[in-house]
Amino acid sequence: MRTLITNGTVVNADGSQQADVLVDGETIAAVGRGLGAFVGAVDRTIDATGKLVIPGGIDVHTHMELPFGGTFAKDTFESGTVAAAHGGTTTIIDFAVQTRGRSLREGLDAWHAKAEGNCAIDYGFHMIMSDVNESTIAEMDTLVNEGVTDFKLFTAYPGVFFSDDGAIFRAMQRTEKNGGLILMHAENGLAIDVVAEQAVGAGETDPYYHGVVRYPIFEGEATHRVIRLAEAAGVPVYIVHLSARDALNEVRAARDRGTAAFAETCPQYLFLSLEDMGNGFEGAKFVCSPPLRPADHQAELWTGLAKDDLQVVATDHCPFDFHDQKQLGQGDFRKVPNGLPGVEDRMDLLHDGGVVAGRISRERWVEITSAAPARLFGLAGRKGVVAVGADADLVVYDPQRRHTISAATHHMDVDYSCYEGRTVQGGSDVVLSRGRVVIEDGRYVGSKGHGRFLRRAVARAYHV
Ligand code: URP
Ligand code: ZN
Ligand code: ZN
Repeated sequence: MRTLITNGTVVNADGSQQADVLVDGETIAAVGRGLGAFVGAVDRTIDATGKLVIPGGIDVHTHMELPFGGTFAKDTFESGTVAAAHGGTTTIIDFAVQTRGRSLREGLDAWHAKAEGNCAIDYGFHMIMSDVNESTIAEMDTLVNEGVTDFKLFTAYPGVFFSDDGAIFRAMQRTEKNGGLILMHAENGLAIDVVAEQAVGAGETDPYYHGVVRYPIFEGEATHRVIRLAEAAGVPVYIVHLSARDALNEVRAARDRGTAAFAETCPQYLFLSLEDMGNGFEGAKFVCSPPLRPADHQAELWTGLAKDDLQVVATDHCPFDFHDQKQLGQGDFRKVPNGLPGVEDRMDLLHDGGVVAGRISRERWVEITSAAPARLFGLAGRKGVVAVGADADLVVYDPQRRHTISAATHHMDVDYSCYEGRTVQGGSDVVLSRGRVVIEDGRYVGSKGHGRFLRRAVARAYHV
């Protein structure tokens, strides 16, 4: 199958040009002006006049079917990847989970079983390590060789995912040898639990207090600590879902002294705030960790993105229905399942709130949503770029089209939207995954199981 995308503006992280794109099979065969005159017969032409042609989005932080707080994140790999494709995302990297006391292998196999044959777009895995011990440390090498090259550890969630400093340092020492990358959920969970218990004891049980008790300073402290541990181990470190200026200041200071510290933020921290949690139990819709922050943190995160102190925007997509699952936290905010939906909205929110609002260029938009994720997570050359030889994961993006985000029209399997009623400018017209059209005219036209597991390379070369 040969497809020619004509007359669009091709936007890569390093520049834009008016060009046609020829797709041959699963990859990009040519990029240039007037290709129609000399590429011979094609099966299909897509007119991209007035549109952008961008590399498909890469969302490196999703949780399909994550077990959490006695329930499971609602999107399956099937529904979640279809929703991602609608929003112009053509790759996800999801978090496989090691259950405490079990092996990494068991956790990874379970995630392969959930995803295989079900995905609309390509997918990879990170591994959540709940137990760092001699045997799981040894398993890290095997996973790196299988293309699962990074490991998430937590200073939060004592008794569930929490690792102490010694465990974190041991895992970091191992990545110094095997080339993997440690991803950190950096909040001081032990201190948070003290404040949370005091709040509940004082009758402050509404979801709003989830946001109050997880102080920004607890995120700043943990971010500082894990970066220092990474420096001691001589390895890069990647901070997931950074929400607060306190943490951003730590990442910036580390980068200024030459440390390979990287961080992602998420749309919820750029567009939502603690005030959104203040409407009684409705606030449960916005319960995630780290929590939404007072609105004055947002401008600093945007500056961090513009100046490359933050390199990536990922969603931390982890949806729970409001009408049953979030209700588990009635009477005690500590029991609200943590997580928000968002995999479908990321590209459009950032186009609207970033590019249209004049905060970032459209090249920077491509960088933080696709190119940097590809480089940092071992997909360079293959994903995140419109270039000859790369996978034909492409989005014909209309930068003018406006639509209003709503649970009534989104494709994520969840009964509410955090952005209900927000109108955004920009939308995906046609989405291709490895050369195959998967979204067209607002409809999913792909097939279940088209998405393949991505064995990712170690990306140490990009971590300096
Ligand atoms: O609230 C969140 N972030 N839920 C998903 C689990 C995690 O910590 O990423
Ligand atoms: Zn986390
Ligand atoms: Zn997460």
